[in-house]
Amino acid sequence: MKRLLEALSPGERDWRVATQLNPTRLPAHIAIIMDGNGRWARQRNYPRLMGHKAGVDPVREVAETCAQLGIEALTLYAFSVENWKRPRHEIEGLWRLLRIYLRRELPNLMRNGIRLVAIGRLESLPEAVQRELESVMNRTAQNRGMRLNLAINYGGRAELVDAVNAILDNARLEGNLDSLTVTEQSVSSHLYTAELKDPDLLIRTSGEMRVSNFLLWQIAYSELYITDTLWPDFSRTELLEAILEYQNRDRRFGGVLASAPALAEETSLILEEEALELPLA
Ligand code: FPP
Repeated sequence: MKRLLEALSPGERDWRVATQLNPTRLPAHIAIIMDGNGRWARQRNYPRLMGHKAGVDPVREVAETCAQLGIEALTLYAFSVENWKRPRHEIEGLWRLLRIYLRRELPNLMRNGIRLVAIGRLESLPEAVQRELESVMNRTAQNRGMRLNLAINYGGRAELVDAVNAILDNARLEGNLDSLTVTEQSVSSHLYTAELKDPDLLIRTSGEMRVSNFLLWQIAYSELYITDTLWPDFSRTELLEAILEYQNRDRRFGGVLASAPALAEETSLILEEEALELPLA
């Protein structure tokens, strides 16, 4: 948080939003569905790839801002297992953009202490993309700041299937398949995000009200922030506003607020009344 405030000029808009944030209640993990590149391009009569190209700047800005805030992990949905259905030239353009981003951003990642990790079924990506990803992952592996996950050829269901198969493979190797019991803990620890906390905040741009097969297991209790802003227009200001809104939510994780009065006597009275209407078995 301190690093972000140092990077901003006192009085400017982002500084004003940032100073409203509670530094002790920042989300540990933010996940983003970056949607709307195509619409951004269409509005301007540009080819779709121009929208993706315009989507690179917000990737850089959001990653840098999260690192400066001290967020532990940021997961960006860059390419889904379903995205192979797009025209070939668009897919190839996306790979080119990704390779350019990886080369260009390395100094920025190093300066911000960001560790980049690609998650997804990476073995199906073009060789050149795999090589580039591996190189940046290796070169940033020792960075101790934020972890930036790029979800590429990623699908939430595919991730769960991979996790279950990994659990089965381990059990076969260890010869205890017969006594295997799968638990929430064992599933979590075989996901691509195993070492990370679940996302506290899931942001989706361009207004669609769906989760699109993204981090299905991990977002069970994430707070959702859906904005009409198209990804290329998503700014640092809006990221800070999303975090501010997150901080104003009551997170109950299926429970009640700690401040809710304990009305045990009232509860038993209510149930007594019910018992009068309910014939005893
Ligand atoms: C969704 O917009 C966006 C994508 C499928 C790709 C995301 C890619 C980027 C943000 C650029 C490069 C990324 C990195 C990590 C360097 P859409 O095309 O589905 O938009 P639409 O719904 O308006 O058509």
